[in-house]
Amino acid sequence: MSVVEQILDSNGPFVPVYRPLLPKAESVAGYLAQLDASRLYTNHGDLSALLESRLAAAFSIATGCVIGAASGTAALTGAILAAAGRATAKQPLCLCPGYTFVAAPLAAELCGYQMHLVDVDEATWAMDPDVLAAHPLLDRVGVILVAAPYGRRLAQTAWVRLSQQTGVPVVIDAAASFEALADDAKSLIGSVPVVLSFHATKAFSTGEGGAIVSTDPAIARAAIAALNFGFDGVRETTGPGFNGKMSEYQAAVGLAELDGWAEKRAAFRRVAETYREFAEPRGLRLHVAPAVSSNYVLFEAASEQSAGAAQVALDCAGFDHRLWYGRGLHREAYFRHVSRDVLPGVEALAPRLIGLPMAPDLSEGVVERIVAALAATLTQ
Ligand SMILES: Cc1ncc(COP(=O)(O)O)c(C=O)c1O
Repeated sequence: MSVVEQILDSNGPFVPVYRPLLPKAESVAGYLAQLDASRLYTNHGDLSALLESRLAAAFSIATGCVIGAASGTAALTGAILAAAGRATAKQPLCLCPGYTFVAAPLAAELCGYQMHLVDVDEATWAMDPDVLAAHPLLDRVGVILVAAPYGRRLAQTAWVRLSQQTGVPVVIDAAASFEALADDAKSLIGSVPVVLSFHATKAFSTGEGGAIVSTDPAIARAAIAALNFGFDGVRETTGPGFNGKMSEYQAAVGLAELDGWAEKRAAFRRVAETYREFAEPRGLRLHVAPAVSSNYVLFEAASEQSAGAAQVALDCAGFDHRLWYGRGLHREAYFRHVSRDVLPGVEALAPRLIGLPMAPDLSEGVVERIVAALAATLTQ
């Protein structure tokens, strides 16, 4: 069996860490047919407008508070430009968690910022707003990038307060928080822009895509302009920007994904429950939905050494696994020399949080074998 065939058979000997399942072609076809008639393939067509308004309804916020983007990274870049603008000589720094996916610091760099990495709390996996409020570099900081790790819930209150107290704009990278926002919009959505990714590896997906969510009309307007060459309603560049728009093809997939979302989420829930049922009696510490986004199942090993043993056991049994955020940004070749605080939380957490296989149609038998492989390492 070729590697591709093995990957295609999730019950076979090799199980990928995540196996996306997007709407079938037939569910998207009806939306695509509208494009044959409208001949509007991008540039804020009917489908992206409909997706934005249906997402706003799902989050119980006004239409206009959700702005579609070409990717999560485009949405991050647009949100930074909208909330903070490009870096300036006086405020060239961006405070960013040392433990997150590389997209956020890369987006901030594209906006001209120099990164300064901040530690995360080992329990919340996120930065502490009180630490940020007293950060010694604050008067040189132009933007604070907060990450909601793995789609965990970060309430707005603390971040609105931080921004008001310090005068520094905050952007929340909540790439995987689609479900959290839908469940808990009142607490998670507000004036501080929240960025979502609809990448194929996310629970709710448009293949590639993303969105900026903010109830601040000025930020929403600036985000629309930033994602469209700095055009603010008229065809003239009045601010920084690029082409970060969501196309009508992406929106078509997103609309079909929304049509089938309740069913897809229920399927994810069943797999998460199965993981929980097998793991709990064996004393394995797993993080599954709804605590994290449905596309993640995370095994928290007690130590770096037991994480190593777990990874070897998974490899031997043919189960893919991933440190989704690596071993900390400061361990990425490109960010190795970046300025940073001491990062004991990142160092302690990053190697211990192992992404396990997940898919909405992952079978109970496979979950049982994954858990058994991990459990065996506890008794060694
Ligand atoms: C935390 C986080 N931020 C940003 C991104 C970037 O999103 P995208 O891949 O849609 O550009 C991702 C996912 O890829 C992510 O997990």
